[in-house]
Amino acid sequence: MEKLTGRNLNVSIFISGRGSNMLSLIKYSKIKRSKIKVNLIISNNKFSKGLDFAKKNKIKYFIIDYSKKKQAEYKILGYLKKNKIDLICLAGFMKILSSGFIKKFKNPILNIHPSLLPKYKGLHTHRRAIENKDKFSGATVHFVSPKLDSGKIILRKKVRILKSDTEKTLAKKVLKIEHRLYPAAIEKIFRKSTL
Ligand code: GAR
Repeated sequence: MEKLTGRNLNVSIFISGRGSNMLSLIKYSKIKRSKIKVNLIISNNKFSKGLDFAKKNKIKYFIIDYSKKKQAEYKILGYLKKNKIDLICLAGFMKILSSGFIKKFKNPILNIHPSLLPKYKGLHTHRRAIENKDKFSGATVHFVSPKLDSGKIILRKKVRILKSDTEKTLAKKVLKIEHRLYPAAIEKIFRKSTL
C-alpha cells in the first residue's frame, strides 16, 4: 500500500445494524483535513438502519446474503477490488471475517469494539463489565487479525462505570465516545503512517 500521506484513501464500511459509527465516519470523511473517502458500504442485513444513511449520502452499498459465508466473502472481495478499496472499517459488523478473506484483501482492516480490549472480546461486553464490578469500561479501535478482537490496538478511550449504570446506560455512554474514537484512530494511523 502506498504511503498514507498521499491521496485520499478509499474506504469501505461494513455494518450489520444501526450504523451510527458508520455515520460518524461519513461525517468525518467530509471535513477538510480528513484523508478518507467513504465509497462503499457493505451490510449483511437488508434491514440495517445504516443503509438509510448510505442512501441519503449517496454512497454505493451492497447487501450481502451471509447464509453461505464463502460465497459472501468472495462477492465482497470482488466489490472491494472493483471499487479500489484501500481500507475497511468494520462498524458494528457482527460477522467474523475468515482468515482467508483478511489475507486476500491485503490492505488494512479496522474494527471498533465496545470494551477496553484485551478485556471482554466477543459479545455482551457491557453486561460483563458491570457484572465484574469494573470501575471503567470504554471502546477500542484495533487492526483486524484472524483471531477475534485480538489485532494490534490503535486507540482506546475509557468511561467511568457508575453504580447506577445498567447495560443500556453504559452502552449509550460508550457509543458516544466510539463516535469520536474511530475518526481519532484513523487520524492516528495517518500520523504514524503505519499502514
Ligand atoms: C457499537 O457499539 C460497536 O462497538 C459494536 O456494535 C455497536 C454498533 O453500533 N460492535 C461490536 O460489538 C463488534 N463486535 P452502530 O451500528 O450504531 O455503529
